[in-house]
Amino acid sequence: MNYDVKDIALAKEGKLRIEWANQSMPVLNRIKDRFRKEKPFKGVRIGACLHVTTETASLMQTLKAGGAAVALCASNPLSTQDDAAASLVKNDAIPVFAIKGEDHKTYYRHINAVLDTLPQFTMDDGADLVSTLHSERSDLIDQVKGGTEETTTGIIRLRSMAATGVLKYPIIAVNDAQTKHFFDNRYGTGQSTVDGIIRATNRMIAGSNFVVCGYGWCGRGLAMRARGMGANVIVTEVDAVAALEAVMDGLRVMPIREAAKIGDFFCTVTGNLNVIRKEHFKLMKDGAIVCNSGHFNVEIDLEGLAALSTSKRRIRPFVEEFQIGKTQRIYVLGEGRLINLAAAEGHPSSVMDMSFANQALSIEYMVKLKKRLDNDVYPVPWEIDSAIAREKLADMGIAIDRLTREQKQYLASWSMGT
Ligand SMILES: NC(=O)c1ccc[n+]([C@@H]2O[C@H](COP(=O)([O-])OP(=O)(O)OC[C@H]3O[C@@H](n4cnc5c(N)ncnc54)[C@H](O)[C@@H]3O)[C@@H](O)[C@H]2O)c1
Repeated sequence: MNYDVKDIALAKEGKLRIEWANQSMPVLNRIKDRFRKEKPFKGVRIGACLHVTTETASLMQTLKAGGAAVALCASNPLSTQDDAAASLVKNDAIPVFAIKGEDHKTYYRHINAVLDTLPQFTMDDGADLVSTLHSERSDLIDQVKGGTEETTTGIIRLRSMAATGVLKYPIIAVNDAQTKHFFDNRYGTGQSTVDGIIRATNRMIAGSNFVVCGYGWCGRGLAMRARGMGANVIVTEVDAVAALEAVMDGLRVMPIREAAKIGDFFCTVTGNLNVIRKEHFKLMKDGAIVCNSGHFNVEIDLEGLAALSTSKRRIRPFVEEFQIGKTQRIYVLGEGRLINLAAAEGHPSSVMDMSFANQALSIEYMVKLKKRLDNDVYPVPWEIDSAIAREKLADMGIAIDRLTREQKQYLASWSMGT
């Protein structure tokens, strides 16, 4: 079997950590048990480009239990957990091409290695696999029947491909399932981003000015958790409704050029580029800590920062010090890549349980469809989304009420008023 991981000897440690993650993934485990019996993916090849974590390992095991031939590469050069990668190769015979800290060339070599397995379905996080397939390996597209996309940034790219007629097969937008972004983007990113910042810096959050750039799903979660740890949270936004929501959530909202002067921590979660730029770095306090938890490392203008700096050094793992003039130091965490995966372990398993249940069931839905969908981006079917929520609640031992017949009638009628 062809693979490329850092050290296969890490498999033992990886196996234990995958087992630990599995314990908090009851919904996916139940799907895995059903797949094992029903084998919905018999003879199906799936190419996955996801953060190679213990939770992703559980998803790969689930697809394999369903009979799929799976190959996996990383969706970010810094997010791979080398032990999980080794364990998938050694204990599950799944080809993995991912090494934490791999350079740009290796990252794309690994994506191409997954494409070499001739996938019929793609599972992407950020759309690098799909865009490489369309731009450099278009000879392989005809055999691809469909795919899924995990994150906001990927959906934006794929919608743009569909709108310009470039997309050559249908994709299900897993990110847009309510049981995905309501929980993964908000609570998952919220907790794990604070975790990544603390692991990288060991600095005190309480009492600090914590600037969150972008008040979307991820930004709301991050702001909520930073506030919970005692920070004075400041939000920057470009969208009036999102900014208003932050104000009504009790947060300070101001432009980044104002926030730059007072922030102790800055974290971008916008999915946009150059949100913190040269002119903002110049205004920052000595010792300001800057990081990103959006998908790509383009949210912070690192080239601009390097151009301003007289020197740069790594002061501790995941912390780079940029010296500007004699009196100003700026610290960038995790090379501006998603800090929750670079310095911490990504989202907790219990939240990935729902995201990856959506992945597994969306691929099954596509495999079982009699008619091929058009080349567009589709929502996760509502039946899948709501079934996952029901199962998750049941696993938490929480029961909810049911509509009475009278209530159903009332909600469906227009005639009953005051
Ligand atoms: N770190 C993780 O594990 C993780 C998890 C899920 C999503 N993501 C990524 O995080 C990013 C955000 O995802 P989301 O679901 O919150 O998206 P979203 O669309 O809900 O929110 C993005 C917000 O950023 C705002 N924004 C855009 N440009 C801005 C600018 N220049 N300054 C300030 N605000 C700006 C938008 O108005 C919007 O409110 C995406 O790249 C997504 O792929 C990361």
